[in-house]
Amino acid sequence: MSKLIYVLNGPNLNLLGKRQPEIYGSETLADVAARMQDKADKLDIELEFFQSNHEGALVDKIHEARENAAGIIINPAAYSHTSVAILDALNTFENPVVEVHISNIHKREAFRHHSYVSTRAEGVIAGLGTLGYVLALDYFAD
Ligand code: DQA
Repeated sequence: MSKLIYVLNGPNLNLLGKRQPEIYGSETLADVAARMQDKADKLDIELEFFQSNHEGALVDKIHEARENAAGIIINPAAYSHTSVAILDALNTFENPVVEVHISNIHKREAFRHHSYVSTRAEGVIAGLGTLGYVLALDYFAD
């Protein structure tokens, strides 16, 4: 049976490709999903994609993942730096979590250097652009 991995994206990532392309690149979230799907098919991984600009909606989706997901790949975006609620939700999830950031948050403003989610994640990929999402799949295939 193939593994089901949830791919969760937080606020403003619906505007990927249009939003500050000098930082986040020109690929859209749909482009990223297509690249991930392509790779997941080869690795026999099933993906569930979800993006929301709302903290509670992300919390609800993490609760859903508790029921059926083998892992979570999450870019919590700005909520990385602020959300104890998302951290608590991830702490109710018993399988591995990989946190992805398109930009290198450690090279940016000081308020981006801390991520609540990093205190829970098995691993963090930051600064490799959208490739980070694709690389996270290798972790789950391994
Ligand atoms: C981000 C980095 C965050 O600091 C920022 O708030 C985002 C995107 C990234 O992917 O580089 O929205 O998570």
